[in-house]
Amino acid sequence: MRAYRLQDPTHSIAPDALARRGILSWNVPPDEAGRAALVDSVKREHGYVDEDFVELKPEMENLEAICAKFDKEHYHTEDEVRMVVDGDGIFDVRDESDEWVRIEVTKGDMIVIPARTHHRFLLTDEKHIRCMRLFANHDGWAPLYR
Ligand SMILES: [Fe+2]
Repeated sequence: MRAYRLQDPTHSIAPDALARRGILSWNVPPDEAGRAALVDSVKREHGYVDEDFVELKPEMENLEAICAKFDKEHYHTEDEVRMVVDGDGIFDVRDESDEWVRIEVTKGDMIVIPARTHHRFLLTDEKHIRCMRLFANHDGWAPLYR
């Protein structure tokens, strides 16, 4: 994972600075047992009760339509929780000055975009990502556009 202000890509933002704004992140252990233990502890600590997998890939006919739901600025009433199991992607998140902070995620990254935090999600040029999503409540997880 790498984070930086979109206006100043040369200066990385450390995970603990993101965490002070509620943007939590973890390095996912490469082994299955370690991965499962991390998912369990994150679910327990943050009250996530459900999970599923989502994949975006270049050969999908409706890829553009799917991406159009998330590449415009929005927020959710629940946390957006993603564990990247393959590929990579980009979260842009508004900081306290309403500037974009870009967070590049790749395989082995797990991230929480907190509820009511404005953000958008973009694919990289490879247009491929596979993620586990964790949910506290399916009903609250719909994009609310700015
Ligand atoms: Fe979102």
